[in-house]
Amino acid sequence: MKPKLKIVSSQKGAPAARAILEVEGLSKGFATNTNGAGRILVLNDVGLTVRKGEMICIVGRSGCGKSTLLNILAGFLSPDRGCVRLGGRPVDRPAPDRCVVFQEDALFPWLTVRENIAFGLKVRAMSRQEKEREVDRFLALVGLTEFGSYLPAEISGGMKQRVALARVLILQPEVLLMDEPFAALDAQTREEMQDLLLHLWAKLAHSIVFVTHDVGEAVLLADRVLLFEKAPGRVKEEIAIDLPRPREKDTERYYALCRAITSQMKRA
Ligand SMILES: Nc1ncnc2c1ncn2[C@@H]1O[C@H](COP(=O)(O)OP(=O)(O)OP(=O)(O)O)[C@@H](O)[C@H]1O
Ligand SMILES: [Mg+2]
Repeated sequence: MKPKLKIVSSQKGAPAARAILEVEGLSKGFATNTNGAGRILVLNDVGLTVRKGEMICIVGRSGCGKSTLLNILAGFLSPDRGCVRLGGRPVDRPAPDRCVVFQEDALFPWLTVRENIAFGLKVRAMSRQEKEREVDRFLALVGLTEFGSYLPAEISGGMKQRVALARVLILQPEVLLMDEPFAALDAQTREEMQDLLLHLWAKLAHSIVFVTHDVGEAVLLADRVLLFEKAPGRVKEEIAIDLPRPREKDTERYYALCRAITSQMKRA
C-alpha cells in the first residue's frame, strides 16, 4: 500500500485552553571542548504543544536531541533560547507536575517496592493512612500487590519499570515524560508494559510525552507522532495517528503508517 500520512500543521495556533504543555522557539547547544571554544547546536527552534490528556510520541534517529528536549521539559536542563510553559506557567526547574521515567531503572536499591512507590509522598500533607491507601492503590494499578516487600534486586526488569511508573504516577503529574522506558525489555514484556501504560493513561488521563526509537511503538501508543530531524534537532513533521483504540498491530493501516514514518525517518 502506498504510504499515506496525515501530516498536521504546526500546533502554534492550537486553542490555549486545551494546551497543557507549550514549547516555543527552544534552542540548546553544548560546548564541544572544555575551554568552551567549540559549540554544537543540538536543538534549533523547537516548537510543540501537548494537549491535556494527549499522548505524544517523539521519534528520531540517535543523537537528534530527544533526550535533551525531555531533560529541558523536565527542568533538568535550561534552554539557551525559547521557553517551556506548563499550564501557562514557565518551567525552569524540576517539579512533581512533570515526572520522568527513564530506560534504566532508577529505583532506590535499599528500599522495598512499597517504599520506592511511597517515597515521593513523604513531603505531601497527607495522613499516614492516606499515604498507605495511595500506595496500595498504585501497587494494584501496576499489578504488584504481592511484591510490596521485595527489594529491586529481587524483581525482574519489567517489574522494576512497573515500580518506576507507579512511583511517578502516585505524584499525579500533569505530564509524564518517558525516555525510551521499555527499550531494555524483551519483546513480550515490552508489549505488556505498553498495554499497562495505555490502561493507566485511560484511567488517570494525564498527558504523556514518550520518546522512542521504535516506530511501531509510537504508532501503537500516540495520538500524534513528532518526527525529529538531526543536526540540529527540530520537529520535521507531526503525524496524526488516527487508528481507533484499542489498536491492533496486525492491520494493514498500522503497517502502512509504520512504513511511511520509517521512510520519513530515514530522510530526516
Ligand atoms: N551534556 C552534554 N554535553 C555535550 N554534548 C551533549 C550533552 N548531552 C547531549 N549531548 C549531545 O547532544 C546530541 C543529542 O543528544 P541526545 O542524548 O539528546 O540525543 P538522543 O536523540 O536522545 O539520542 P539517542 O536516541 O541515542 O538516545 C548528541 O550529539 C550528544 O552527544
Ligand atoms: Mg536519548
